[in-house]
Amino acid sequence: MKIDVFTLFPAWFEWFRGQRHVRNAEALGHRLETIDIRATTPLSAGQVDDTPYGGGAGMVLRVDVVEAALAARYDVDPLELPKRRRVIALAASGRQFDEALASELAQEDELTLLCGRYEGFDERVYEYLASDVVSIGPYVLSGGELAAMVICDAVIRKLPGALGHEESALEESFSEALEGGPEYPHYTRPAKWRGHGVPEILLSGHHGKVREWRLEQSRLRAKRRES
Ligand code: ADE
Repeated sequence: MKIDVFTLFPAWFEWFRGQRHVRNAEALGHRLETIDIRATTPLSAGQVDDTPYGGGAGMVLRVDVVEAALAARYDVDPLELPKRRRVIALAASGRQFDEALASELAQEDELTLLCGRYEGFDERVYEYLASDVVSIGPYVLSGGELAAMVICDAVIRKLPGALGHEESALEESFSEALEGGPEYPHYTRPAKWRGHGVPEILLSGHHGKVREWRLEQSRLRAKRRES
C-alpha cells in the first residue's frame, strides 16, 4: 500500500514513521510519504490560505493550493483523482472513522490523506477533490495531522506482517473472530497481585474452555456497552 499524506506540517509525521509497525510495513514494501502542501503553492510568499468569504474568524485553506499540490504529485487532473483512488479529507464534520472503515481502507493499494488546518479547507476541496470526508471523533482538533496518524495507524496494523505477530490482529476488538464485539480481558503474571487473582480458567491450560470464556467475556462487554 502507498499512503500519501498532504500536510502543512510534514515534520509531525517523522516520529510516527519511526514506529515499529510502520517500519515493518515499509520493510515489506508499503510506503508512507508526506507531501508539503506549501511547497507547490501557486501564490507568492508561500501563501496557502485566505480569509473566508462572508467574513468571520480564521483562515481557510485555498482550493487552488490543494489542487496544485495534487497536480504536482499525480499524473492526472486532480478532478479525476477521487474517481481513481480514495482521497480522504480529514474534517471534524466528516463520516466517523471506525474499525470497518479501517478494514475497508486496508484493502486499497493507494490512499491519499488531506490534512486541513485553521478553519479547514475551502468547501470545494471536500466536494470536488476528495472521495471521502472523515472525522476521527466528535471534537475539533487544531488540524488533520493527528487524525491522519490515527487512520494510518489503524490501517497499517492491518497490513499482513506489520504487527510482527499475526494473531493479535485476528482476535481483537471488533474483529470477526469476536463477532464484532470488544476484546476480552487479558491477564499476565503475577497470578496474585495485592490479593487480586486472575480467572482460574486462564490457568487451567484448557484451550477450548479458554476460548469459550473469552468469547463469553467479549459478549458480556458488548452487552454492558449497549445498556
Ligand atoms: N480536523 C479537525 N478536527 C478533526 C477531527 N475530529 N477529525 C478529523 N479531522 C479533524
